[in-house]
Amino acid sequence: MDKLLIRGGTALRGEVAISGAKNAALPILCASLLAAEPLYLSNLPQLRDVSTMLRLLEQMGVEVVCHAPDMVSLNSRGLHNPLAPYDMVKTMRASILVLGPLLARHGEARVSLPGGCAIGARPVEQHIKGLQAMGAEVNVEHGYIHACCAADKGRLQGACIVTDMVTVTGTENLMMAAVLAEGETIIENAAREPEVVDLADCLISMGAQISGAGTDKIRIRGVERLHGARHSIMADRIETGTYLCAAAATGGEVRLTRTSAAYLDAVVDKLLDAGCDIVTERDAIRLKAPARLKAVSVRTSPYPAFPTDMQAQFMAINCVAEGSAVIRETIFENRFMHAVELIRLGADIRIDANNAMVTGVERLDGATVMATDLRASASLVIAGLVAQGETVIDRIYHLDRGYEKIEEKLRQLGARVERIR
Ligand code: EPU
Repeated sequence: MDKLLIRGGTALRGEVAISGAKNAALPILCASLLAAEPLYLSNLPQLRDVSTMLRLLEQMGVEVVCHAPDMVSLNSRGLHNPLAPYDMVKTMRASILVLGPLLARHGEARVSLPGGCAIGARPVEQHIKGLQAMGAEVNVEHGYIHACCAADKGRLQGACIVTDMVTVTGTENLMMAAVLAEGETIIENAAREPEVVDLADCLISMGAQISGAGTDKIRIRGVERLHGARHSIMADRIETGTYLCAAAATGGEVRLTRTSAAYLDAVVDKLLDAGCDIVTERDAIRLKAPARLKAVSVRTSPYPAFPTDMQAQFMAINCVAEGSAVIRETIFENRFMHAVELIRLGADIRIDANNAMVTGVERLDGATVMATDLRASASLVIAGLVAQGETVIDRIYHLDRGYEKIEEKLRQLGARVERIR
């Protein structure tokens, strides 16, 4: 298993380009299941999760052609095997996103239940309840969700769905199911995340009739079929936020290109509170960090509030900031696994249920730490960049799931980082 060796203590400086968003790319890849014509995607990030999703789609009969490293076309004309097996779902929960489109286009789907993961139980009952409201017959047996359209209808039926909580992939699954359903579907309490909007934009370019994406009420008028289209994946706002935090923590100055601050208000506000100077351009963001950051408290909530996917990175920057801050996680019940590893680097963190009290220390010292999930790994990278001496981050396959060429990009900014194979 690869490890990352970081020699800390260098301020990040320079310019780096941000990749396409993992959490937009994954549902959009699944949208290719909805049409029998090619979907051309550009700005696709080269990530392990993306290749896992491409393999999953291929084994269902989707033809995948790579035109350039960040460009693929997918043609699901030959879709024949509506199955997402356990082996794949266990490595990537987002595989659940094939459920809605398979059911809508193929009338049937067998998808392994994702089960829990490092950050929480993460059930998918909202996805299932929504599909049942649209007339699907769903059985959960032997660890698999088996869903099919009622025999007398042969097609999903539009429905009014109010989800019990805001769920991002739940909203995306139901939106994809509804585009080919008979009649109108309304999803209330929908996730407003920009990735939901990017998916809706792609579906609309495929001929879907969707309004309200980006609000908590999405209206979808089902159509008979979708057609091929071209779509460019939005920039990754979490990758952007992660590099901003890395620059902030190391006292650096960076310019991130091919991205924008448009979807990062809550994160940018916190970095301003921490004492950073931020200049936003149309397709770039510049950040200049003060000599020492001020600690900033954050509370995670669905978009547009502060994202849970940036919580670990802010815990890392607070570890070396001046003062104390409280980090409150409200989305996932077990998303503080990075805290114990940060403590091994010398951080002062006390956990009380879903609150972490972080008191900044003058310095962190390098050590060997272990990554437990994607964003936890990102926080350890930030801490390693700040720490004196060498930090070795074990199990970096988590990072490879969601950060394209992380060591190359960090080196471009002057960091001393090496991958140990
Ligand atoms: N939930 C349920 N039942 C459901 C669905 C969700 O109880 O049927 C709960 C979850 O357990 C959680 C909360 O609702 O407590 C919100 O979960 P959500 O469904 O929104 O999360 P998700 O769709 O599984 C996506 C991202 C995550 C991100 C969350 C929250 C993708 C592929 N994943 O997950 O990204 O943290 O939304 O914003 O879009 C990451 O990139 O590192 C990552 C974990």
